[in-house]
Amino acid sequence: MFESDLLGAFVRHRSIGIFDSGVGGLTVFKEIASLLPGENLIYLGDTARVPYGTKSVATVRRYALEAAEFLVDQGVKLLVVACNTASAVALPQLRERFQLPVIGVIEPGARRAAESQNRRIGVIGTEGTINSNRYPEAIHALLPDAEIFTAPCPLFVPLAEEGWAEHEIARLTALEYLQPLLAAQIDTLVMGCTHYPLLRRTLQQVLGETVALVDSAEETAKSVQQLFQQQGLAKPEHGGHRTFFVTDVPTRFERVGQAFLGNSLGRVEQIQIG
Ligand code: DGL
Repeated sequence: MFESDLLGAFVRHRSIGIFDSGVGGLTVFKEIASLLPGENLIYLGDTARVPYGTKSVATVRRYALEAAEFLVDQGVKLLVVACNTASAVALPQLRERFQLPVIGVIEPGARRAAESQNRRIGVIGTEGTINSNRYPEAIHALLPDAEIFTAPCPLFVPLAEEGWAEHEIARLTALEYLQPLLAAQIDTLVMGCTHYPLLRRTLQQVLGETVALVDSAEETAKSVQQLFQQQGLAKPEHGGHRTFFVTDVPTRFERVGQAFLGNSLGRVEQIQIG
């Protein structure tokens, strides 16, 4: 824990830093805010450089290090990589660079997926996340004989941002993407992209009620809570502050973010990184 009560109190009152390529990480932000309402949260959406999901590993790593550096400079006590693509390709580099706990979204999602009964697990995400093979690696580490079926689903990102997550177009798109996973008789599907929890109802409709959907955002919030319990990092009071930063003009982030979060964001400040 801490060398003194004073140091402990000081660290506990610091914020949690959360970053994503854009608006999608607000699904993770929302789960953390609801599970840990007393915590001060600082969110950074790298909206000037979104999407990360179609970019090279080297570029996403550089972006992730620059976004994290901004949050670490704000004095955060924990870094949450709310982006699946950045978690897939940059987590070891972030952990090596910064002297604070770093939580990504992949390990928490994989832990939940490893509870599969028939050990036939589907994983969907951006091209970058699927190409990285990080989800299958993390699931196999826990469940070595699992059979894993992956599919990149890039069109789900713009559909969610357009507010069409439950539109007929989303249902037909999901049917097309998920057909091979349905044929493989998966009993669990990992929604391995920040935007996909918005499509939960559509995905469930296409897959049927028997397939369990794993929400990496929810699982990540639980991991943050567990880490805080273990390390005595939780801020005890309620009513945490929420601060939002973006790297492009905030207009679109504010509008789309409201739909992702379910309420208005308040002030969003534009900053420059990199
Ligand atoms: N946040 C990204 C992810 O979870 C999706 C959007 C993007 O491609 O940047 O992988």
